[in-house]
Amino acid sequence: MSGIKIRGTGKGVPAGVITNADLEGLVDTTDAWITSRTGIQLRRRCDGQSLTDIAVQAGRQALTRSGVTPEDIGVCIVATLTPDTLVPSAACCLQRELGLPEDTLCFDLNAACTGFLYALHTMECLLAKSPRKCGLVVGAERLTRVTDWTDRSTCILFGDGAGAAVAEWREDFPSICAVLGCRGDQELLRLAGPGAPEPCYIQMEGRKVFKFAVEVVPLCIDQVLAKAGKTVEDVDFFVFHQANARIIDLVVKKYHIPEEKYYKNLARFGNTSAASIPLVLSELEEQGKVGPGSRVLMVGFGGGLTWGGAYVEFA
Ligand code: ACO
Repeated sequence: MSGIKIRGTGKGVPAGVITNADLEGLVDTTDAWITSRTGIQLRRRCDGQSLTDIAVQAGRQALTRSGVTPEDIGVCIVATLTPDTLVPSAACCLQRELGLPEDTLCFDLNAACTGFLYALHTMECLLAKSPRKCGLVVGAERLTRVTDWTDRSTCILFGDGAGAAVAEWREDFPSICAVLGCRGDQELLRLAGPGAPEPCYIQMEGRKVFKFAVEVVPLCIDQVLAKAGKTVEDVDFFVFHQANARIIDLVVKKYHIPEEKYYKNLARFGNTSAASIPLVLSELEEQGKVGPGSRVLMVGFGGGLTWGGAYVEFA
C-alpha cells in the first residue's frame, strides 16, 4: 500500500468564447460538420488572461475545496505545452501567486494531452519522499495561441482552460496504478518550439490520431483495471480525455458503460489538452457526482505520442 487520493479539484475557465459560427467565418466549415464529427460547439479563449491566470484560478479553487492550505503543499506540477514563458515555468509562477512555501518542488511537465496523468503519477512518486504530503497538480493550456486559424482540420478542435487537483499521499492509501506509455512520432501530431524554422502551430493527421485513440484507450482501461485488481463495475466514474465525442462514444459502447458513469464537456470546451481531464473532474465534483469515496478511472492520449490511465479515489 501507499499512494495518493484526490482531496479536491478546481477549474479555470477563460472569459472568451469561440462558437462554431465564428469558425464558419474563418475557414470553409459548417456548424453541422463540426458538431456531427467532433461534438464540439464552443471553446474558451484567454482574452486578456494569461495561462498563469487560469492556472491560479483552478489551483486556488482546488485548495479551497480540499481544505488544504498553501503551506501544506510539498510539490506543484503544471502539465502544459503552452506555458506563458519557458522560464519561469508555469509552476514557478503558481508558487508565487498561490504563496506556496519556497521549498516546494515546482516544475512543468509536457506529455501533451496525457500530461495530467503523467503529472499525477509523478506526484504520487514525489510525495512519498516529500516532507509535506499534499501536492497540487494542474493541467492548463492556451492552445488558441498555437492554433493555425487557416487550417479547418485543427482550428475547430482546440480551446483554452485549466483544471487542478490537490492530492494527498498516505501510506495506507492505494496507489493510483498509473499505466503510461510513449511512442516517439514526428508525423501524426507536431508542435514546433520557439526558434524552429516551421511555424509554431499544432499540425495533426486527425484520421490517424483518431485510429490510434480508439486502439489505445481500451488498452489503457484494461491495463489499469488489471493493475488495480478491479473490474469495470468497481468504477464509479470514467473520465476520458475530451478530444472527440465519437472516440468516447465508441469506448463506452465497447465496455457497456452506462450514461450516468461518464461525462462529456467537450461541447463547451473543445479539446483543452492537459486541462481536459482535470476540467472534467472539477465539474463532476462541482455537480456532486464525485466526492469522498468515489472511484474514478481516467484515460488520456495525445501528442508524443503519449497515452495513460489511472484509477484514483477521492478522499
Ligand atoms: N469542416 C468541413 N470539412 C472538414 C473539416 C471541417 N472543419 N475538416 C476536415 N474536413 C473534411 C476533410 O477535408 C475531408 O474531406 P475529403 O473527404 O474531401 O478529403 C473530410 O472532411 C473528412 O476528413 P477526416 O480528416 O477524415 O475527418 P474525420 O471524420 O476524421 O474528423 C477530426 C477529423 C475531427 C480531426 C478527427 O479525425 C479527430 O478528432 N481526430 C482525433 C484528434 C485527436 O484526438 N487529437 C488528440 C490529441 S490533440 C493533442 O495532443 C494536443
